Amino acid sequence: MPFKKDFSPYVPRPATLKEKKKLSELVTLFTFELDNGKALAHRPGQFIQLSIFGVGEAPFSVSSPPDPSKQTFELAVRKIGAVTQSLHAMAPGQKVAIRGPYGTSFPVLDFVGKDTLFVAGGLGYIPLRSLLHYQLRHRSEFGRIIVLVGCRNPQERIFTDQIEELTARKDVEVLETVDIPDAAWKGNVGVITTLFPKIPIDPTNTSVAMVGPPIMYRFVLAECRKLGINPNNIFVSLERKMKCGVGKCGHCMINDLNTCMDGPVFRYTDIEAYQEAI
Ligand SMILES: Cc1cc2nc3c(=O)[nH]c(=O)nc-3n(C[C@H](O)[C@H](O)[C@H](O)COP(=O)(O)OP(=O)(O)OC[C@H]3O[C@@H](n4cnc5c(N)ncnc54)[C@H](O)[C@@H]3O)c2cc1C
Ligand code: FES
Repeated sequence: MPFKKDFSPYVPRPATLKEKKKLSELVTLFTFELDNGKALAHRPGQFIQLSIFGVGEAPFSVSSPPDPSKQTFELAVRKIGAVTQSLHAMAPGQKVAIRGPYGTSFPVLDFVGKDTLFVAGGLGYIPLRSLLHYQLRHRSEFGRIIVLVGCRNPQERIFTDQIEELTARKDVEVLETVDIPDAAWKGNVGVITTLFPKIPIDPTNTSVAMVGPPIMYRFVLAECRKLGINPNNIFVSLERKMKCGVGKCGHCMINDLNTCMDGPVFRYTDIEAYQEAI
């Protein structure tokens, strides 16, 4: 995907942390604003590289939907190592630098007029939320919106208040599951594919957007195949360790695929041949 003429993919842009909201024990939602006063101009599924001076740089999916009228954008980040711990320790008003947005996105127009089946495993909800909220904002252009959300346990659920709001809507179908319940959990128990028999799907008019751990893909794709969903209408996002984000370093390769430039979002038929390496 070519970069815009007035945008250098190599130049980090200063941004200010505006707000923080804890989503779970380890995941926090961060709202940033670019200091140049411009919108980030991302597409659903794209990622940015965030750097913290003196600490390092790491890739994160943009979780908010594109909105040219808004100068802020959201990242939801799990605390795991140097960059993410340092980010979690930041207070509103502090500065980071942002490169990007980078990579491919969910082809929004391919979803128009069709039902969308969202399949979100764990942190996979973060990039899918951008497409989901885009569709909600343009609700009349899309058919059914079906959202399957799977988590290891109830404590790891994220965006719980938003998922409750979605569940209350009549024009969105939401099903959640956890692998390991606690005493308070009243919902489905089992891996995300156990939700498939609970929801009737029209395979001739359904597009799938899925993001989750690689092991999930194999089983979800098998379910999609069983249902007869056209593989051309299945989109997945692949996460690999990334350094440059612009196709130079080779850290993100799957065989000859650069997941930072050819991906992270792929049409399934374009990566079918790579399935063993995923
Ligand atoms: C395209 C893309 C989008 C991403 N989006 C998000 C997001 O929206 N939210 C989010 O929380 N994280 C996301 N990640 C993962 C995130 O980039 C890593 O968690 C981050 O780089 C860790 O940096 P760190 O300095 O805190 O940890 P490090 O000190 O670099 O690493 C800590 C530990 O995490 C492991 N690790 C580092 N990166 C990854 C990775 N990509 N996958 C698996 N293990 C890793 C390391 O091997 C090490 O064990 C995304 C990654 C990619 C490639
Ligand atoms: S992250 Fe450097 S080539 Fe993809």
